[in-house]
Amino acid sequence: MDKIIVKGGPALQGEVKVSGAKNAALPILASSLLADGVSTYRNVPDLVDVGTMLKVLNTMGCEAERLTGRQKNVCQVGVNGHITPEAPYDLVKTMRASVLVLGPLVARYGRARVSMPGGCAIGARPIDQHLKGLKALGAEITLTEGYVEARAKHLKGGTVNFDLITVTGTENVMMAAVLAKGRTVLENCAREPEIEELARVLNKMGAKIEGAGTSVITIDGVDSLRPVDHAILPDRIEAGTLLVAAAISGGDVLVKHAVPEHLEAVVMKLREAGCVITAENGGMRLKAPKGIHPVDVTTTEHPGFPTDMQAQLMVLMCVASGTSVISENIFENRFMHVAELHRMGADITIQGPTAVVKGVKKLSGAPVMATDLRASASLILAGLRAEGRTEVSRVYHLDRGYERLERKLRSLGADIRRVKA
Ligand code: EPZ
Repeated sequence: MDKIIVKGGPALQGEVKVSGAKNAALPILASSLLADGVSTYRNVPDLVDVGTMLKVLNTMGCEAERLTGRQKNVCQVGVNGHITPEAPYDLVKTMRASVLVLGPLVARYGRARVSMPGGCAIGARPIDQHLKGLKALGAEITLTEGYVEARAKHLKGGTVNFDLITVTGTENVMMAAVLAKGRTVLENCAREPEIEELARVLNKMGAKIEGAGTSVITIDGVDSLRPVDHAILPDRIEAGTLLVAAAISGGDVLVKHAVPEHLEAVVMKLREAGCVITAENGGMRLKAPKGIHPVDVTTTEHPGFPTDMQAQLMVLMCVASGTSVISENIFENRFMHVAELHRMGADITIQGPTAVVKGVKKLSGAPVMATDLRASASLILAGLRAEGRTEVSRVYHLDRGYERLERKLRSLGADIRRVKA
C-alpha cells in the first residue's frame, strides 16, 4: 500500500488547476444507461471510484472506457440494447455510489438487481429514500440475499417527498423519472451543484427537468433519450481542500477553475479565519493570514457548510489562535481523523456529534493512517504545517477521490512525495 511523505514548512505559492468533480462524474456516468449509443464525458477525473463505475457499466455489457494519453480525462460509454441490469456485490461493496445505476436500469430496462451497499467507515448510509422514491414511481422492490431487486413494467410519474435530504437519493429517483410516463414532482430534494449538473446532462439527452438545485424538482417523462457529449464541472471539494492547503501553509495560491458560488459557505468560514480570498481569472486566490482565527462550523446540506470539507477545516482549526467548535450533522461517524491528529499533537475533544478544537502552537509530524477519503486529505494538510516528517499510510482512500493530490501540492512548493509500497 502506497504512503505519502510530507515534510512541513514551505508556504505554498503559485497556481493549481482543479480536476472534474467526482460526485458529478459518478451519477453522470450512470446516466449513460438511459440512452443507446456512445456518450462522451470530458474533464472526468482519473480516480479509483470513477474506474469502479466504469467497471460496473462494463459488467452490465456496456463498453465503458477511459481514453489514454492527452485524452486521459475523457471517458466514453457505449450502450446497446443488450444490458444485463445487475451490479454485483464485489463491485458495489467497494463503492456505494454504484447504487446510482438502480434508477436508470429500472427506468430503461424495467428491472434491476443491485447489491445493497453496505455501510462504510463514515456511517450506516442506508438507501431507504432511494427505494421509497422508486416505489412511488411504481417499482416493485424486493430485498433478497443482500440484493435489491426492482421491477416495473413502465414507471409512472408520481410525487416523492423525501423524509430527509439525500444527494444520491435525489439523483437516483430523478434518473428513474426521466423515462416514466407523466409528471414526477420530487420534494425536499438535495440542492448540490452536482445535482444541477446531472440535470443539465439529462436535459441535453432530451429529458425535461426543471428546478434542479432547488428543493423541488419537476420531471416530465419522455419516451427516449439520446447520448451526450459533456464536460464535467470542477470539483468544489477538491477546490476547497486546495484553498485550505494554502491557508494552513501560510501561502498564496490561485486555485484555477474553482467556482466561487459552489463554495460560498467554505469561503465564508475561511474568510472568518482571516484568509483573504478573491475571485481571479477563472478561479479563486487565497492569501493566508499570519495567524488563523478560530471559527465554529456546523455541517449541513448544501448550500450550508459541506460535510466533505469538515475534516479539512478541522485541521486548519488545530493551529488557530483559540477554540473552535465543529459539529458534524450529516454522518454519524465522521471524526475518525481526530485520533490521527491527536498523534500529531492536536488538542481535540469529541462530545457526540461535536468536536471542540483548541488551537495549538504547533503540530509535529508523525506516522498516521488514513481511514476514509476526506480524512486522508486532512492528514496531508496537517503534514504541510507540522514540524518534521508526516507519513500517511493507506492512501488508497485518497486515490478514491483526489487526482494526484501530491503532485498538485508539490507543484505549489510542498515537500511531498508518494512512496510506492
Ligand atoms: C453524497 O453521498 C456524496 N457522495 C458524499 O460524498 C457526501 O458526503 C454526501 O452526499 C453528503 O453531501 C456522492 O455524491 C457520490 P446522502 P450520499 O444520501 O448521497 C442519510 C465524498 O467524500 N440517508 O446525502 O450517500 C445518510 O445516512 C462522499 O465525496 C438515509 O438515511 O449521502 C446520511 O446520514 C462521502 N437514507 C445523510 O442521509 C437514504 O436513503 C446524507 O446522505 C439516504 C441517505
